[in-house]
Amino acid sequence: MAASLTALLEERKVSRSARGSQRSLPTEAAPLSFADNDYLGLAREPRVAEAAVRAIRESGTGARAARHLAGPCPEHTRLEKGLAEWKGTEAALVFASGYQTPLGVIPSLVGVKDTVLLERNAHACLFDGARLSGARLRLFARNDAASLMEMLTSCRRLNPEGKMLVVAESLHSMDGDFLDLRSLVTCKNHFGAWLLLDEAHAGGVTGPEGAGWAAEQGCVAEVDVQMGTLGKSLGSAGGFVAARAPVIDHFLNEARTFLFGTAPAPAAMAAAGQALQIIRSAEGASLRRKLQENIQLFSAESPEPKPGPIQTHRCPSNDRTVRSRDFLRATGIEVAAIRPPTVPASTARLRISLSARHSAPDIRRLLDGLARLRDA
Ligand SMILES: Cc1ncc(COP(=O)(O)O)c(C=O)c1O
Repeated sequence: MAASLTALLEERKVSRSARGSQRSLPTEAAPLSFADNDYLGLAREPRVAEAAVRAIRESGTGARAARHLAGPCPEHTRLEKGLAEWKGTEAALVFASGYQTPLGVIPSLVGVKDTVLLERNAHACLFDGARLSGARLRLFARNDAASLMEMLTSCRRLNPEGKMLVVAESLHSMDGDFLDLRSLVTCKNHFGAWLLLDEAHAGGVTGPEGAGWAAEQGCVAEVDVQMGTLGKSLGSAGGFVAARAPVIDHFLNEARTFLFGTAPAPAAMAAAGQALQIIRSAEGASLRRKLQENIQLFSAESPEPKPGPIQTHRCPSNDRTVRSRDFLRATGIEVAAIRPPTVPASTARLRISLSARHSAPDIRRLLDGLARLRDA
């Protein structure tokens, strides 16, 4: 007889625990947090909160239905206009979350006769979107143009009629490095492949007015779909894509996670819209300068410095990662313990997010805490 559900799940739990990858929701957190993605500190900005409160008063707490059905949603439309302007595209479309965005977008672009070329350690939502599309999935090594070129060549040879969609993260969520976007664009242009660039972590952090890595690299026109999230630098919740108007119209009609779910709450849209205004202003530039100062302070003393706000501290095992996190927590510092399957096996790490809201003494405390870990 097959094992009962509870017996089977217990077995899985025991196995996760043995690997040091059992998770639970935190019931406490240290006051000094380096564990979130609020890179500019806007998630607690009073003007952003006030915009959300106004939207609730004017439009209610929920969007009531999917966008096609609910009637005009002024907060959503206003935000999309702002996002498109910011990203240098003709149009934009918001989704209920960043995670749901590629789950709708990728299957609307490619199917079983096509190929998705995805960087090997990409975010789970890009994998899930690619798998859901039914397209053949090929994995390439990040920032290795030669291997991507080879892969594109073989895909074109094996499947001359199929569409090819290249998918990559601009600022890597777990490794903290920036994509060699220009080389990738040269490769994909050579084969007429399309490019979806996930700017979840780069938005607000880099580029003119914080518009992201494609803008910073002068590649906006070469990126077919710029994807982003409202849940990190924009201090709110939701996801979005920015692209040419016909591409956005296509998503509006065929991206199932857009079509078949209640639209995100007006308050979240209004909050993101207010955050976007700040990000694009002189105040936003000053927040980015402060973030940059913190990155430099940290990188100057880190044995594994990264160029952006996502820093890492590698640990020898999953268990050690959790113990290191707990050690820092006991000293008042919160960092994220990242273990497989979020990262590949044997690469567990502490993930440290720097923010413009941190002070120089905050960074000093963190560096001292990490040094004590190394000495332990
Ligand atoms: C690279 C990347 N893409 C997409 C997402 C999903 O965005 P959201 O948190 O808004 O669902 C994340 C979230 O962690 C991410 O790191």
